[in-house]
Amino acid sequence: MIFEVITIFPECFPGVLGIGNLGKALQKGLFKINVHNPRNFTHDKHRTVDDSPYGGGPGMVMKPEPIFECLESLGAPKPLRILLSPQGQKWSHQLARKIFKKYSRIALVCGRYEGVDERIREFAVDLDISLGDYVLSGGEVAAMTVIETLSRFIPGVVGDPVSVDSDSFTKSLFKFPQYTRPVDYRGMKVPEILVSGNHQKIEEWRIQKALERTQEKRPDLFSCKLHQKDDSNSIDVDA
Ligand SMILES: C[S@@+](CC[C@H](N)C(=O)[O-])C[C@H]1O[C@@H](n2cnc3c(N)ncnc32)[C@H](O)[C@@H]1O
Repeated sequence: MIFEVITIFPECFPGVLGIGNLGKALQKGLFKINVHNPRNFTHDKHRTVDDSPYGGGPGMVMKPEPIFECLESLGAPKPLRILLSPQGQKWSHQLARKIFKKYSRIALVCGRYEGVDERIREFAVDLDISLGDYVLSGGEVAAMTVIETLSRFIPGVVGDPVSVDSDSFTKSLFKFPQYTRPVDYRGMKVPEILVSGNHQKIEEWRIQKALERTQEKRPDLFSCKLHQKDDSNSIDVDA
């Protein structure tokens, strides 16, 4: 999988993506991150990437030309072009799975300032993605989150593939609670069933706990599970 990150702060990458499992996978070439600075696609001596908004108002807006040209320079095969935006489709495990199955090259446009010229959202990208209902200063952390989520699906990136398949959200459920040694820590004991050696009972306990904690913490996910509703985002990721 190849990620093409478009950012005016290329020094942010690989950042946290360069450590642990992901860092090793990057070194092995299991996925690749290319970083592109829109400033290299400006044509004035100040290398201007932003300008004041038409109609007035606070802050600056990222100009369309450097980002259009930067995306056009990526060539073939055409990547899925994603704009990181607080107004986008909410990022989720299901949307990530869908994108992973369909695309092997993904461009991520990171906004800054007051955001990007609307023509970028309308005409230069295929979809916009939001991490959640809050505003970040830039799209870089969001792009890292998208890269980290997708790269975990790549075989060999996470040591044990069973771990990815049993992670929270995989089956519209949170993962069951987990414990490790010691069995008794300051009087707080590991549930007896987990040290019983009875694998069938352990499995049943885990399913029960996953259902209980999903119902308690995320009734919306739980009801998707109950009705076997597709809880993926509705956006069409066809480019
Ligand atoms: C300060 S924000 C701009 C917010 C914009 N003025 C608005 O109200 O929608 C600058 C950039 O950060 C990124 N960003 C901010 N919040 C985000 C979120 N929740 N998810 C993804 N990207 C976000 C986007 O790339 C955005 O263009």
